[in-house]
Amino acid sequence: RKTLNIGLFGFGCVGFGLYEVLQKTPGLKANIKNICVKNPNKTREIAAENFTFNPDDLLNDPEINVIVELIDDADAAFEITKRALKSGKAVVSANKKMVAEHFEELLQLQRENNVPLLYEAACCASMPIIRNLEEYYDNDLLESIQGIVNGSTNYILTKTSRDKLSYEDALKEAQEKGFAESNPILDTGGFDAKYKLLILLAHSFGHIAKPDDLLNIGIDGLGGLELKYASEKGWKIKLVAQAFKHSDGNVGAFVLPKFVSPEDRLYNVDDVFNGVVTKTSFADEQFFVGRGAGAHPTASAVLSDISALTYDYKYEYKKISRGEEIALAEELDLNV
Ligand code: HSE
Repeated sequence: RKTLNIGLFGFGCVGFGLYEVLQKTPGLKANIKNICVKNPNKTREIAAENFTFNPDDLLNDPEINVIVELIDDADAAFEITKRALKSGKAVVSANKKMVAEHFEELLQLQRENNVPLLYEAACCASMPIIRNLEEYYDNDLLESIQGIVNGSTNYILTKTSRDKLSYEDALKEAQEKGFAESNPILDTGGFDAKYKLLILLAHSFGHIAKPDDLLNIGIDGLGGLELKYASEKGWKIKLVAQAFKHSDGNVGAFVLPKFVSPEDRLYNVDDVFNGVVTKTSFADEQFFVGRGAGAHPTASAVLSDISALTYDYKYEYKKISRGEEIALAEELDLNV
């Protein structure tokens, strides 16, 4: 196993969470060498000498072999990730917007520079869904994947229906607990769920799409009428991301609020939990559940990626490669 010297970007909720989680994982051959933050005036949980404000101090440090990127700004995150991969440093990121918006380019950068980017924390936080999709499911096994992939909206829906909180108070709690995005419209409008769905689409069906390609309707348009109707029927409303393969091989995907009955596996996925149901050709359904947001659950997925890098793990993107092979064979008029 390799020893990792980490250059950490960002020391917010998840960044500090990772710092704490690493302190409690002494066996791991990984240490934070330097931390880059943006705001010099903010009081932080650890001493000022641990921080730099210059990204070059991390990106140009030859001893740093892994960049862990936990900042909020997806554009800045992309620039950091690009530079890191180009200089041969592995990257761990929790930034779903960045991964969803630049999937193809990030894939290319990994291949050209032969260096991995891992982002388990970007999708459903603590639930190990990306690696499961990568490792376990062959393209032909999977028929559909659907789930609750945004913790904040699930928290809001649970609090407003079960605990009778107002929408505003429930959102405020989700923000205070560190679940919500800094711009909460990303959560409530279904955008965050869509970014995650785009990542799931690539790893489940090898299909790379852009955020504008998919429909997302969030929970911010729901009114009292829908909630009343659901409770009268004994149903719940959940924000569900879905992707499914049609019999002709085409893939469909969208994010929508959905009435969910008690028979549905997602019915009992409440509070900040995420739940994903895969439907497969031979195993019927499989169901994953885990905390979908929050400092330590998200940091736990980052930690798992860091640990995976100590034994040189990388995503193989097998389904994407397979798609490319088929496209090429079709181009050459081979029998596929
Ligand atoms: N805002 C996100 C959520 C954070 O609520 O799910 C975790 O990705």
